[in-house]
Amino acid sequence: MDTKSVTDPPKAVLFDAYGTLFDVYSVGLLAEQLFPGQGQALGVMWRDKQIEYTRLVTTSDHGKHYRPFWELTRAGLRYSCKRLGLDLTPEREERLMNQYRALSAFPENKEVLLALKAQGVATGILSNGDPDMLAVAVKSAGLDGLLDHVISVDGIRKFKTHPDAYALGPQATGIKPQQTVFVSCNGWDALAAAWYGYRTLWVNRYQLPFEELDTQPERTGSTLRDVLAFFA
Ligand code: LAC
Repeated sequence: MDTKSVTDPPKAVLFDAYGTLFDVYSVGLLAEQLFPGQGQALGVMWRDKQIEYTRLVTTSDHGKHYRPFWELTRAGLRYSCKRLGLDLTPEREERLMNQYRALSAFPENKEVLLALKAQGVATGILSNGDPDMLAVAVKSAGLDGLLDHVISVDGIRKFKTHPDAYALGPQATGIKPQQTVFVSCNGWDALAAAWYGYRTLWVNRYQLPFEELDTQPERTGSTLRDVLAFFA
């Protein structure tokens, strides 16, 4: 292995979007208002189901059942409400989906992106989200102009953790995965990015154990600021 390329500062940083830049559990507050006592349970199940559906449509039947992330998000909400016995009226559904469209951004996002820009590092998002969702989320978080690339898997109709999805990063930036840090708060995403060949930071916001599949992220942090350690 070329050890130099591993120790050199990376040339690009790609961020996962949902859960990493945008707080998927911020819908919990509205969910709690609509369904008192069930907001947190709904937030967690909704997220898990959404991700489960991305895997289902990517691995089954040669991708024939692919649907954009927005539609899978809605399907995950409907399922979770049925499962929890919650009355999801059309009005409640629209309110929750609208909230999902403009999720709260984690507060340190901007300063970290600015610091990376100052270092001359290429920055981007590589996400399961479809282009419309990502455009609205980036704009409402005020991150316009701080990201060189906003890459959606929608063009290839395969969600992460398919390797073709991770391959979109180097294709867009022209920078090799070994010279790119992939940042995710989702353990499974950091793991699969490491398997793909990226350098990785897992941001463990919720003090969770890492996946037990014998690969570790290169670094583990607690906020996005920890990406700056790659450039120390
Ligand atoms: C994304 C999901 C996985 O943004 O959070 O890709």
